[in-house]
Amino acid sequence: MSDIGFAVIGVGTWGKLHAEVYASTPGVRLQAVCDADERRAAAVAREYGGAVYARYDEMLDNPMVQAVSVVLPDFLHAEACLAAIRKGKRLLVEKPLATTEEEALGIVEAARLSGVTLMVDFHNRWSPMFCALKDAMDRGDLGAPRYAYYRLNDTIYVPTGMLSWAGRSTVAWFLASQCLDTLLWLFDARSAAQGGPGDLPVRLTCLTRSGVLTEERGVSTPDLYLTTVEWRSGLVTVIENCWILPEGEPSVFDLKCDIIGSKGAFHIDGSHHGAARLIGSGAANPDVLAAPRIHGRPTGFAAESIRHFADCVVRGTEPMVDGIDGLAVTRLILLMEESARRGCSVDVGELYAT
Ligand SMILES: NC(=O)c1ccc[n+]([C@@H]2O[C@H](COP(=O)([O-])OP(=O)(O)OC[C@H]3O[C@@H](n4cnc5c(N)ncnc54)[C@H](O)[C@@H]3O)[C@@H](O)[C@H]2O)c1
Repeated sequence: MSDIGFAVIGVGTWGKLHAEVYASTPGVRLQAVCDADERRAAAVAREYGGAVYARYDEMLDNPMVQAVSVVLPDFLHAEACLAAIRKGKRLLVEKPLATTEEEALGIVEAARLSGVTLMVDFHNRWSPMFCALKDAMDRGDLGAPRYAYYRLNDTIYVPTGMLSWAGRSTVAWFLASQCLDTLLWLFDARSAAQGGPGDLPVRLTCLTRSGVLTEERGVSTPDLYLTTVEWRSGLVTVIENCWILPEGEPSVFDLKCDIIGSKGAFHIDGSHHGAARLIGSGAANPDVLAAPRIHGRPTGFAAESIRHFADCVVRGTEPMVDGIDGLAVTRLILLMEESARRGCSVDVGELYAT
């Protein structure tokens, strides 16, 4: 069987990883890369292969491209996803699926109508730490979950140095999207929504603060969001996302997650884990979990989720995370914004309805 042609739309910080994973996955050929910055696309193609495009509508006309990753700034996902679906391409889109409910619903509906595979890249579902937590919960080791604290913060480098488009997005779209999907997955919300076992968010309260990024750094986006989600069972989860950690932190992100149940607890230290430490003029924790290269090949949970999509396309199977999971997260982030704007708690409606 000949290899299947994959392409990446947007080969910036994260799209480059998608290209690298496709170039190193059996059964897959990196057919094309596209970036509005053509020099960037050409540099990625030189390293990993593929034809170079500056416009994705032209790339999507290439019949050799059968599956694509959309790795654009979040507010640009919808248009590119719809264009890819219209051309019948199987689709992996970075988180969040889209930044409005209409767009998210439109993508899910378009994929359903054309029978196109659609996966959203919520890669924590491949994280060994979160998979160990999920296994412990499913075995009943924690008893009934009563409280969860989930902190996922970035240093100020991310909105000021890494993402040129941070002023058109927020740390809620960039980081809370991962946290919310992880919690919905851990507590089996989708199953609960269909009448099966699991728990569902019922009420959400969110606080946001601005100042450091807007006034001191000239990037028009909030500094932080603090979100409390109440669940049907009485479980309370607190999610903290900030974009203003100092650059001196040993890791660009800070991830902690604690789940406390009636019988036990589970603690995750995803950033300052101490598994590997590099000391030079400062201290740094090299990435050994998300996307480390092992003998030149991208591994880790962030590479694993992309490879899962590739494997699904090659084998003709359905991915473990789909557009409806992405729609639920988009709805929750919009509720975070509404709660913060109105200064009150908001009820969580049907997250999975299409
Ligand atoms: N940076 C991370 O650590 C990270 C991690 C996980 C997921 N993501 C997700 O990946 C997506 C992209 O983030 P990023 O950090 O790679 O951003 P980025 O700015 O580094 O890359 C985006 C790329 O898209 C290109 N682009 C913009 N408009 C275009 C268009 N119309 N056509 C073609 N190319 C266009 C830009 O030139 C740029 O190279 C986001 O959804 C983000 O949430 C990022």
